Amino acid sequence: MTGQLTPNPYHFGSRVKSAVYFTDRAKELTTLTSHMINHQNVILVAPRRYGKTSLLYRAMATVHQQGGRTGRVSLMKCSTTQEVAEVLMRGVARGPMGPLRGHATEFARRFRNMRVAPEFTFDPATGGASVKFSVPHPNANWRGVIEDVVHLLNDLNEDRHPVSLVIDEFQKAKEIEPDLPDVFKDLVDDVPDVSLVFAGSKRHLMDQMVNDRAHGALYNVGTKLYLQKIAETDFVDYLRARAGGGGTSMSEDTARRIYAAASGIPNDVQLIAFRAYQEATQHPERAEISSSDVDEAVRAAVGDQSDDFQNTFDALAPSQQLLLKLVAREEVTEIAGKQTIASLGVSNHAATKAARALETRDLIARDGKLWTVNSGLLREWLRDDDQMM
Ligand SMILES: Nc1ncnc2c1ncn2[C@@H]1O[C@H](COP(=O)(O)OP(=O)(O)OP(=O)(O)O)[C@@H](O)[C@H]1O
Ligand SMILES: [Mg+2]
Repeated sequence: MTGQLTPNPYHFGSRVKSAVYFTDRAKELTTLTSHMINHQNVILVAPRRYGKTSLLYRAMATVHQQGGRTGRVSLMKCSTTQEVAEVLMRGVARGPMGPLRGHATEFARRFRNMRVAPEFTFDPATGGASVKFSVPHPNANWRGVIEDVVHLLNDLNEDRHPVSLVIDEFQKAKEIEPDLPDVFKDLVDDVPDVSLVFAGSKRHLMDQMVNDRAHGALYNVGTKLYLQKIAETDFVDYLRARAGGGGTSMSEDTARRIYAAASGIPNDVQLIAFRAYQEATQHPERAEISSSDVDEAVRAAVGDQSDDFQNTFDALAPSQQLLLKLVAREEVTEIAGKQTIASLGVSNHAATKAARALETRDLIARDGKLWTVNSGLLREWLRDDDQMM
């Protein structure tokens, strides 16, 4: 190995900023960009840590290259409808309206008809402008302000500069107020020249919005894109190629071991690979990342996250805890099966209810015939009694 001066060839945690850390997803990328350029709405759904934001940024980069005006907001930190309105306004100002920021008068003119007047700050050094709601507006109609902001987008559209806006962590809108997403359903018809991309995790919340014909705010609003795990063969190739770029190597078996330990969750695959690479750099005499480096990496990764896992576990009812451990430790095919019921010591009804609760929290899922814990690292933690203190 070339030693510790070589940067770690893997990346985890935040969205990937550089294409070298990004693999696969070619089809999804094409779907996203073509929709964004052609004024079509998209709903992108995936569990946490599958790579939504990374994919969205890559799509936005392509859209920019092709002359599109686009931007992204995340509702993750919003707690009120007013904050949603503010975040959207800032996102529009920074993203699709970005090219106007150097033209102060024109920039301000665009916001003139908003029902709550925003305040502008112009930076004489850069010529750039920023915008916010400054004074308190206790009785403002913030849903109306959201409508105003999205309407601004439609006016920005030009033939050679199609407008789009990505709203990441959209499920948060439903958590703030269950009917807040309805504002967007009503809006999409008003802004035919804009592509809105609604992205979200928390599958059950997104599913309610997307699939419920009667009450779903995103029902029939756009093309649904469900992000799956990255296929094992693609990820294995990626892991091995990156090991090479990092001055070492990785056998196919070792790469598969990483993928399996992570249950294929993209973030966790890269996290384990990152740590295994670190382990391997402790032994410069070795020419590869070995399976024992991977075992050590998994142990360390589980250890790092044990507080989070403990909190998740503590928040569950006893029957849910029992079922989660059972799924992690044994082969469970039927939740209401005799064997499962006997192991859990609860009624059929209680077991089914517990399973539904765990599914809603994205903790377990049915994978073919078997029930599995979604996170491979959580599964490892549940299997190890010493970790569960
Ligand atoms: N296409 C990809 N190829 C390889 N690794 C990826 C890819 N997409 C995501 N990852 C891995 O997943 C990690 C998380 O990515 P990202 O933040 O985009 O996911 P997310 O679904 O938006 O997560 P969150 O639910 O936390 O917002 C990245 O740091 C990277 O390790
Ligand atoms: Mg994200």
